[in-house]
Amino acid sequence: MQVYLDNAATTPMDLQVIEKMTEVMQNCYGNASAIHSQGRKAKAIVEMARKDIAKVLNCSSSELIFTGSGTEADNMALRCAVNDLGVKHIITSEIEHKAVLDTAKELQSKQLVTIHYVKLDKFGKADLEDLELLVKKHPGSLVSLMHANNEIGSLNDVATISRLTRANNCFFHTDTVQTIGHYPIDLAAWDVDFAACSAHKFHGPKGVGFLYKNKSLKIRPIVTGGGQESYMRAGTENVTGIAGLAKALEVATRNMEVKIDTVQRIKAYFIQQLKSKIPEVQFNGDTSKEGGLYTVLSVSLPPSDNASTLLFQLDMYGICASGGSACNSGAINESHVLNGINHPVDRSAIRFSFSKFTTKEEVDFAVEKLIELL
Ligand SMILES: Cc1ncc(COP(=O)(O)O)c(C=O)c1O
Repeated sequence: MQVYLDNAATTPMDLQVIEKMTEVMQNCYGNASAIHSQGRKAKAIVEMARKDIAKVLNCSSSELIFTGSGTEADNMALRCAVNDLGVKHIITSEIEHKAVLDTAKELQSKQLVTIHYVKLDKFGKADLEDLELLVKKHPGSLVSLMHANNEIGSLNDVATISRLTRANNCFFHTDTVQTIGHYPIDLAAWDVDFAACSAHKFHGPKGVGFLYKNKSLKIRPIVTGGGQESYMRAGTENVTGIAGLAKALEVATRNMEVKIDTVQRIKAYFIQQLKSKIPEVQFNGDTSKEGGLYTVLSVSLPPSDNASTLLFQLDMYGICASGGSACNSGAINESHVLNGINHPVDRSAIRFSFSKFTTKEEVDFAVEKLIELL
């Protein structure tokens, strides 16, 4: 039996997305920058995708810059803020994705910025009082705080953080890689400066994403060499991937409330099964419906002799899960997120993450094997 419970790392592609991409691959092979009919056809696909995505997220299509990944979108937000917006301070948290953390650290190592880490509560959410002190102390900073944490699922209150940053003349980037395609998101209402997206987290293709950039900002590209993306990101457009991204978002948005409810129930069932069978089990992050991602469950297991090999043993049974984020898979407890929330070192943590394709039978099998291994 194959049990895929690693949907925060990546999701299987939707059949409708594969069909759309196949059609584009077969029929629209032109270079979107070419002026002939095949080129214009490809360009039309890119622009239609941009329009469709903008409509779903309530922003202007000119505010979307397609990228090769969520990582690239995060890089662009931070690097452009420093290069073009006069940012000298980055306010972030110790449990952001490495795409943000390592970029901020690199900018600091070049003495371009100073990083300030906001305090976190027990769930790993930004402490808003501490954030207010920091933005007041460093006006003009870039605040980079993720909407949902990819390892423990806790959700930050983006709307409130946005108000705090605006009130103190700071810029705000939010990494929405785990939430676009999973929640109804209104970028205009949020009033953020930057937001990052990656298609493969919601049943779209790998290697394509975008950066939302508020139209009030004037920035220059970090990838140069051509006039693509209105001179904001050089490189021949990934027409097939972009079409797949737009299709995946369209499918994800259809009946979203029903999907949220279905996956939330699977997660609640998993929690209930684990609690009844492993009394010492704990959960990292906020597991409430309102406070945590319905797709992610970080399970903190009691100390056990075979903790370090649990993931490998689960894999032997065909169960795919992860110990931390995808980047850290296989290295249980070697996670900057778990360290950041002071997860006890004698316990191991496994992240199980769900999607609309996850079934109760898969959950039952995973719980049964986990108990057997413990
Ligand atoms: C929160 C978050 N940000 C950024 C990324 C990077 O996205 P990509 O895989 O498209 O580079 C990920 C993927 O793991 C993520 O979970």
